[in-house]
Amino acid sequence: MTNFALVVAATEELGIGLLSGLPWRIPRDMAFFKHVTTHVPEGLSAKKNAVIMGRVTWESIPPKFRPLSDRFNIIVSRNPSYDMQLTDAEDRSTVLVSNMEDAFVEAEKQSAGRVFVIGGAQIYKIAIKHAKCTHIVLTRVRSKVDCDTFFPEISDEEFRLATHEELEAYVDQPVPKGVQTHKDLQYEFTMYVRKKYM
Ligand SMILES: NC(=O)c1ccc[n+]([C@@H]2O[C@H](COP(=O)([O-])OP(=O)(O)OC[C@H]3O[C@@H](n4cnc5c(N)ncnc54)[C@H](OP(=O)(O)O)[C@@H]3O)[C@@H](O)[C@H]2O)c1
Repeated sequence: MTNFALVVAATEELGIGLLSGLPWRIPRDMAFFKHVTTHVPEGLSAKKNAVIMGRVTWESIPPKFRPLSDRFNIIVSRNPSYDMQLTDAEDRSTVLVSNMEDAFVEAEKQSAGRVFVIGGAQIYKIAIKHAKCTHIVLTRVRSKVDCDTFFPEISDEEFRLATHEELEAYVDQPVPKGVQTHKDLQYEFTMYVRKKYM
């Protein structure tokens, strides 16, 4: 199985969601998310990366923006007849699976690119325990924001905070360094790396 990364924006308290949606709107983070999850590094033969998400996160994406473009979308639900409400054209870039192991199998089958787990909390909780989860690309929201959904604890034993240079090398583009500001929100682009991985 291929290595994969989690991509998330979370507060210091690891808050990620509110009322089944995002608690903030940070345009530069949305552009960063799009680049990270879409960009296929040179050397990989794939045309597209794969993104894996839970059914609630899928529904939180406005219909006109889903499936996420230029990425193979994998939706996880226990309901095998869940209606993703796709057009025929969208059908080819989207698949429904009933557990995380099938999500990884499907990701490898459909794409030789990178694999990203993009939430939400239930899905991160399963994925972060996986030995193949090698990177956590984490936009740290430094401001206090009310949340009702949380990212799992990032174990110091398993993961270390990467340097800014490591983050830029991983995402393969320059990334603004240090605390950024959007309106009344402060945030910072960071990354964690699994300490030991193959
Ligand atoms: N800040 C961020 O970066 C970020 C990123 C993503 C999401 N979010 C936020 O996170 C929240 C959503 O997170 P969430 O935890 O409520 O939902 P979620 O993880 O997106 O989806 C949960 C659903 O996934 C399916 N599922 C979960 N575990 C499964 C398993 N083991 N096997 C098969 N299916 C499984 C179930 O679907 P069924 O009920 O259909 O069976 C479950 O209801 C929202 O507020 C969203 O905006 C934030």
